[in-house]
Amino acid sequence: MLTTSRLSFRHFTPTDLDLLYCEIYSHPQVAGALSPTGTMSLQQTDFLLHRRLQHWQQHGFGAWALIHKPDQQLVGHCGLHYLETDGGNPSEVELTYTLHPAYWRQGLATEAAQAVLHWGFATLKLDQIVAVTGPENIASQRVMQKLGMKYEKTMSYNGTKVLYYTIPATEFDKKPTR
Ligand SMILES: CC(C)(COP(=O)(O)OP(=O)(O)OC[C@H]1O[C@@H](n2cnc3c(N)ncnc32)[C@H](O)[C@@H]1OP(=O)(O)O)[C@@H](O)C(=O)NCCC(=O)NCCS
Repeated sequence: MLTTSRLSFRHFTPTDLDLLYCEIYSHPQVAGALSPTGTMSLQQTDFLLHRRLQHWQQHGFGAWALIHKPDQQLVGHCGLHYLETDGGNPSEVELTYTLHPAYWRQGLATEAAQAVLHWGFATLKLDQIVAVTGPENIASQRVMQKLGMKYEKTMSYNGTKVLYYTIPATEFDKKPTR
């Protein structure tokens, strides 16, 4: 399990669905970033959650549930999964993160993502990690930039225009964030 000074990481379980949907993914600003339609239903959240659980089973890595240590609340997700693009390289591993809006702008996404990049490079021995986000998602771009990821191109991701950032293992500071 990963840990940072303010966050602990655990595996998701199907019982996380209601909280994940009601508190986090149904929030308009979160849904706007996660879904091309700008909304997330309970069924879509359930599909996402099960896809995450399956990814762990199939590949031995995936997205973690984030627990905020001070109040022990589930506050979002952060992890790694294979980037699913039409015609893209299926071996690319993508960094993913989302936080409960009440916990934004406290440096938590950057803290979680730093620990996940360290895990990806030091434990999973990945050569490179990529991330994609919409051109209007400044918060997500800032997280990527603060991690040392570099903008490479603009591409289509599931029919949506996204900015594509990368970081090779050789450019990541391998000290874990604590
Ligand atoms: C993207 C997201 C995870 C960032 O979480 P966060 O914990 O607020 O991020 P951090 O506090 O680590 O902030 C990282 C940087 O982004 C900046 N930032 C955060 N929110 C911002 C906003 N709305 N507009 C501009 N900059 C923003 C912070 O100021 C910080 O930069 P700085 O240190 O130079 O000031 C969060 O906004 C979120 O969950 N958004 C909805 C879902 C989403 O977009 N997921 C990613 C899909 S690609």
